[in-house]
Amino acid sequence: MRPQARTLVTSALPYANGPIHIGHLAGAYLPADLFVRYKRLRAEDVIHICGSDEMGVAIMVRARKEGIKPQDLVDRFHPLIRESFARFGISFDYYGRTTSDVHRQTSQAFFNKLAEKGTFVTRSERQPYDPVEKMFLADRFVVGTCPNCGNENAHGDQCERCGTSLSPSELIDPRSTLSDAALEWRDTVHWYLPLDRLQGEVAEWIATKKDWKPNVLGQVGSWLNEGLRDRAITRDVPWGVPVPQEAADLAGVNAEGKVIYVWFDAPIGYISATKEWAAEMGQPERWRDYWQDENTSLVHFIGKDNIVFHCVMFPAMLMAHGGFVLPTDVPANEFLNIEGRKLSTSRGWAVWLHEYLDAFEPDLLRYALATTLPETKDADFSWADFQARVNNELADVLGNFVNRTMTFATRYFDGRVPPLVDPQPVDTDVLESIAAFPDVIGTAYGSYRTREAVFQTIALARIGNKYFNDTEPWNTRKTDTARCGNTIHVSLQLLASLSILMDPVLPFSARRLREMLNMPAVRDSARHASSPHGADHVDQADQAGQDVLGWDDAGRSLLAPGHALGTPEILFTKVEDDAIAAQVKLLEDAAGGQGVVGSVAGDGGEVEDDAAGAPAYEEAKETITFDQFSALDLRMATVLEAERVPKTDKLLRLEIDVGYERRQVLSGVAEQFDPESLIGRRVVVVANLKPRKIRGLESHGMLLLAEDPDGTLHFVGSDGVDGSVVR
Ligand code: 2FM
Ligand code: ZN
Repeated sequence: MRPQARTLVTSALPYANGPIHIGHLAGAYLPADLFVRYKRLRAEDVIHICGSDEMGVAIMVRARKEGIKPQDLVDRFHPLIRESFARFGISFDYYGRTTSDVHRQTSQAFFNKLAEKGTFVTRSERQPYDPVEKMFLADRFVVGTCPNCGNENAHGDQCERCGTSLSPSELIDPRSTLSDAALEWRDTVHWYLPLDRLQGEVAEWIATKKDWKPNVLGQVGSWLNEGLRDRAITRDVPWGVPVPQEAADLAGVNAEGKVIYVWFDAPIGYISATKEWAAEMGQPERWRDYWQDENTSLVHFIGKDNIVFHCVMFPAMLMAHGGFVLPTDVPANEFLNIEGRKLSTSRGWAVWLHEYLDAFEPDLLRYALATTLPETKDADFSWADFQARVNNELADVLGNFVNRTMTFATRYFDGRVPPLVDPQPVDTDVLESIAAFPDVIGTAYGSYRTREAVFQTIALARIGNKYFNDTEPWNTRKTDTARCGNTIHVSLQLLASLSILMDPVLPFSARRLREMLNMPAVRDSARHASSPHGADHVDQADQAGQDVLGWDDAGRSLLAPGHALGTPEILFTKVEDDAIAAQVKLLEDAAGGQGVVGSVAGDGGEVEDDAAGAPAYEEAKETITFDQFSALDLRMATVLEAERVPKTDKLLRLEIDVGYERRQVLSGVAEQFDPESLIGRRVVVVANLKPRKIRGLESHGMLLLAEDPDGTLHFVGSDGVDGSVVR
């Protein structure tokens, strides 16, 4: 007997301020679901926990924009998100929310414990305060005049006009963006998590994680190399889990008006949701098995923007608290682009799950996305690729194989499994190769190589099709009925195994295939089919305690000769060009300034929610030597002329003055800057970049731009004279 492995899988709690899009799915939820479904089929003890992240400044800002209460906002999005996940077949064992009582109690108890243990540091600071709204303001809610260029609408963190990075105290006549009131400065106390002090322990623990994905270790490594800084974990805002008075008493502070920073409470949401799951099971202490027993593997599925929180901050919190398991693995994915452009909810460049589900079956996107997951680097989703995956792989390979096998069995073998009589090597070879697949696919799932697992799954269907072609049952039917029967027997066995092995990625189609084959249901350990918190994904037989099939049954001959089959059906219909064109149009219309289709959230999940001003950073690059840096010839320059390059969306042709000469540079910024607005702009150019031809035009040099996490571009410039060296 295999030792019983216990796994707690979590997927990042999505902010309840907008609907789910395919970037979310590709980052965390889909790979997590495939992993969990695979483990359930292996009869492992696994639960999948998630929920809505309902606290934080992002929610407050969104609600404010809509003129509603934060609670009303999350009450609208929480059910929408939960339902779209369920329709897509994301099989959570529990989907909670961070506005629940259990969550408030759990995160306050956690906070109190760290306060009692003396983990926190508290500090009093002068902070900008809005006397009208009666609240302290994060930097981005402050505007004023830029001391550098005189821009009257410079933000508290940066002047958009000249690019200077600022703090609210540097602005002239600072005022609040919320009320327009002149800013006041008041003292306020905040709690800090001293990550600088906890760094050693975190680094030691991370050093044991040699098999983690390189993209994750790379990012964590660069945070650690830079040295962790302490992090404010409380805020003076009116929305969040209140700072408990017990902890405040210890610090001699009044807790009123103070809440816990959302990135402190959100990961504790995994614990709260597990508690709620256990309570709903009628075993309220059961959550401890998953959080406090060392034999549990804790696996966090997240997108790369959440790496630091799950690999550094939350583990540091868990270590400081004590008594909890630490993450066993954090298989974070990179980002998914759409049609070659960065996904941006604020610019309407997103494919929304609920809209997708109104047009197509869930399995089609599950499959297409699973083959395109950004596992090691950013990946691109395109509707043309979606169509090709569905038509050329699901319909032409898998669907076709199902269809021809079922049709033959029904027409020529009376809808029953023919016997295997005197099998030839061509038949036994296929039976042997089927037997190898559960291990191959399972190993890939088990090591987070989801794409490969799915490629191998479809490879098995390809083997079936090839075998069908090679053995030509349409001929042997007339010349040698027994051989024809062998082809259909082996093909049906392959399908039976495939109906189990494809279950993680194509659960709805797999179930239909099993019905066609008149097979028992597959095993599913999810406990809450009927609960509003779990998804409805349990085959009925499992609940009734009947015989069920598991992963290890795949690879064997599962259908006895004479077994009566069900009715053949078409498993996948091809996606027509006009259906694809409609989706492309939807995307383009939404991006064309007509608002975000179907989304009240607008800039939803991307609202930077770190009032301490730490956006989701791109992975840090490898260290270079000073000599390598010196090889760059960076120069100040002025833009003299600017025009669009015809027949391109992105390119501008610029004439620039680099002091010692004029030259032509092409820059891919046309989507964000009008050519006229650039004339006279001071820029920094990489002057010694080898000239290259783009669209037949020479580009001699490259302009430096900073890119925000949401794709917004800012020119990098200074006051130096043209041609002066930047170093
Ligand atoms: O980035 C986000 O969407 C966050 N709401 C993820 C939170 S994950 C966890 F820690 F709860
Ligand atoms: Zn300025």
